Amino acid sequence: MSDLAFITGTRKGIGRAIAEHLLSQGWIVAGCSRRDNDLKHENYHHFNCDVSDEAAVIKTIKTVKKTLQPIKVLINNAGIASMNHLLLTPLKSYQDIFQTNVQGTFLMLRETAKQMSRTGGGRIINFTSIANPLNLEGEAIYAASKAAVESLTKTAAKELAEMNITVNAIGPTPVETDLIKLVPKEKIDSLVKQQSIQRLGTHEDILNAVDFFIKPQSDFITGQILYLGGVN
Ligand SMILES: NC(=O)c1ccc[n+]([C@@H]2O[C@H](COP(=O)([O-])OP(=O)(O)OC[C@H]3O[C@@H](n4cnc5c(N)ncnc54)[C@H](OP(=O)(O)O)[C@@H]3O)[C@@H](O)[C@H]2O)c1
Repeated sequence: MSDLAFITGTRKGIGRAIAEHLLSQGWIVAGCSRRDNDLKHENYHHFNCDVSDEAAVIKTIKTVKKTLQPIKVLINNAGIASMNHLLLTPLKSYQDIFQTNVQGTFLMLRETAKQMSRTGGGRIINFTSIANPLNLEGEAIYAASKAAVESLTKTAAKELAEMNITVNAIGPTPVETDLIKLVPKEKIDSLVKQQSIQRLGTHEDILNAVDFFIKPQSDFITGQILYLGGVN
């Protein structure tokens, strides 16, 4: 029987690309987003779940095991961003970003890891961004949320290792999705110039990193933050 991967934020963007990629490799994929998803595949199962809603997360993760099978891989991809000068950033923006990026990652990780601890272990991949190590101006709150995700990743890796669960994070460079469509081109160009390899990222760059973290031979790799594009 194929293993099951749960991916958050599969309605569009990077999460959608990861879902389609794992489905093409024969995985059973369960995914979630707040809105409906038009991804149709016999091995894809969608849940309308806001990752920051504790009750919804608990219910979703339990339902996956009950109606499908235990989760082997969790990909905490769902995330939101908002560009603004720090002095112009409303509290609501801060709350929304931290609720999805940090609270959502924490809740999904906690509930899935509980299940994995009872079913032989698994792999967890969180999503950070080069916005944190590059200290990008205009992205203070987003970068701070990703710094929290990185810290959570490293500590979770230590606490969950004895349960045969690895926890790592991928930090993409800009990739053309809706998340960055409102960022001015000059801003993206200047950001790309700060990378060792100066180009936009692609879905394939991220899929390669996902494949690396979930392959059986990567069971000795945990607590790592993999930035793309040569950012460190
Ligand atoms: N694109 C980039 O340049 C870039 C660079 C670095 C890091 N990243 C990271 O990569 C990840 C994916 O980004 P993306 O570019 O693919 O973004 P995107 O195109 O805006 O897609 C975000 C996805 O997450 C879902 N989502 C958002 N909030 C959610 C919530 N509270 N609960 C459940 N689902 C939620 C959205 O669906 P609904 O709206 O239906 O909920 C959507 O499917 C994020 O963590 C982002 O920070 C992206």
